[in-house]
Amino acid sequence: MAATELFHNFIASQNFLFINYTILKNLVFLFTICWLFCACSGGTQNEQATEAATEPESEKMSAEATKLMATGNKVYGQYCIACHQTNGQGVPGAFPTLVQTEWVNGDNTRLISVVLNGLQGEITVNGETYNGVMTPHAFLTDEEVAGVLTYVRQSFGNDAEPITVEEVAEVRATVAE
Ligand code: HEC
Repeated sequence: MAATELFHNFIASQNFLFINYTILKNLVFLFTICWLFCACSGGTQNEQATEAATEPESEKMSAEATKLMATGNKVYGQYCIACHQTNGQGVPGAFPTLVQTEWVNGDNTRLISVVLNGLQGEITVNGETYNGVMTPHAFLTDEEVAGVLTYVRQSFGNDAEPITVEEVAEVRATVAE
């Protein structure tokens, strides 16, 4: 009697465990689905939030860049075109090209300094040697310098990052010290 009862209890507990295990498995499965769903929708929300936060900023940036380009176009036509020519190709032997040069694509401070302080002495631009004089253009405003350099960097087949008004102000302040 005691033995049968024990056996019965044993089976019952096994059964109980088995059912519990199945329920547990289902619960884990459900939990995983829920978790995945929450994680995914949470991600989309985050993405939407980031988009919303960056959109006005990029609009502001492009508006600023458009303004700089317009100013730059005007300044180039007034102050640079005589020497560096319409398409920035310069005059071989006299005025160096502004197309894909180390100065135009290179260090921002050095490029800003060329316009503010001018440049003289022997330089090699894209394999050609020049020994001329470029007069300083410190009379241009920070906006005009940033504009003309952004314009040069994004015209004539160039594709380098814009020069900001703040950067020009910084270089001008360093020179004045
Ligand atoms: C009077 C003629 C003249 C004017 C105006 C002039 N430049 Fe130059 N520029 C030169 C000469 C000459 C050199 C080379 C100087 C040297 O040999 O050391 C030069 C060099 C440069 C360089 C570095 C070399 C290169 O080709 O990448 C840049 C950049 C440049 N000029 C940009 C400008 C910009 C922008 C303007 C207008 C704001 C301008 N220049 C106006 C004559 C001029």
